[in-house]
Amino acid sequence: MSPTMQSIPTHLKGRDWLMTQDWSVDEINTALDTADQLKTEFRSGVPTLHLPHKTAFLIFFDKSTRTRNSFEAGITQLGGHAHFIDSETSQIAHGESPKDMGIILSSYGHGIMIRHDLVPGEGQTYMRDVAQWADIPIINMQCDVDHPCQTLADLMTIREEFGKDLSELKIAVSWAYAPSYVKPMSVPQGLIMLMTRFGMNVTLAHPPEYTLMDEPMRLAHENAAQSGGKFEVVDSMEEAFADADIVYPKSWGVEALFSNPDEAMKVAEQYRSWICDEAMMARARDSAIYMHCLPADRGCEVTDAVIDGPQSRVYPEAENRLHTAKALMALTM
Ligand code: CP
Repeated sequence: MSPTMQSIPTHLKGRDWLMTQDWSVDEINTALDTADQLKTEFRSGVPTLHLPHKTAFLIFFDKSTRTRNSFEAGITQLGGHAHFIDSETSQIAHGESPKDMGIILSSYGHGIMIRHDLVPGEGQTYMRDVAQWADIPIINMQCDVDHPCQTLADLMTIREEFGKDLSELKIAVSWAYAPSYVKPMSVPQGLIMLMTRFGMNVTLAHPPEYTLMDEPMRLAHENAAQSGGKFEVVDSMEEAFADADIVYPKSWGVEALFSNPDEAMKVAEQYRSWICDEAMMARARDSAIYMHCLPADRGCEVTDAVIDGPQSRVYPEAENRLHTAKALMALTM
């Protein structure tokens, strides 16, 4: 007899996923356990038709590879269908309000996913405005403050590597140089908020201009105090990497310069030496893993030897975007 799909917990139906901070640790563990289950089923060829005939609306104010495709493939595998909505080619570009989007899309389908990450002060506010009027779940596919789908997949990847007890593990979240574009602040902010809730020792490193937003920093300190973990900030990648179990070096922008990319790149140019190479990796534990949400600027944020090397986990991390996206949809929609 062929294996059949396992049931999915129902107590999170209707919930929004706007910041990891909105869910309890128990609820996040439920999402991770569900993602583990869906990954096993996917790899075994077991159908996962938990959302037959349901519709997910994916609204993008920015580009994407992993997020768009993990949600589109994921809803298909759950038995539903996705509509891709580009903010530039929908009436959002003519000023259609978050209220209209929330009310109207709620009358057409079962979940609204939003990426709005490029303007500090806007994305999370927009999502909460849509959520106020929608009566279907809203999922944050990356905003100015948090990237909770990415960090959930990161946490899944870390659990696969180190097990479920993450206390005492050291993660180094470091700024790195990238010339391709001014990258959002939401991944490092999401990491410091989420990993501190699981008792980890989180060290954040960045040049002086690259401070993170006040609220994620406040929450990271508060979470570490509550979980028994640690949160500290240093000013060098070298110091952050010392004895780390997990290193997560990536670029982000200066909060005040997102509207001025030329000026932002001039600031970044001063810090070309902030690259994760083999010498930098040697500062971490021999067993340390390298993570990056992707896309990475090869040769700038990280050398090929590291990202393609034995300590890199970027492809399992990217794969886990699918399983965690499916878990969030199956649990909430
Ligand atoms: N990591 C991530 O969110 O990738 P995309 O920008 O390609 O969606």
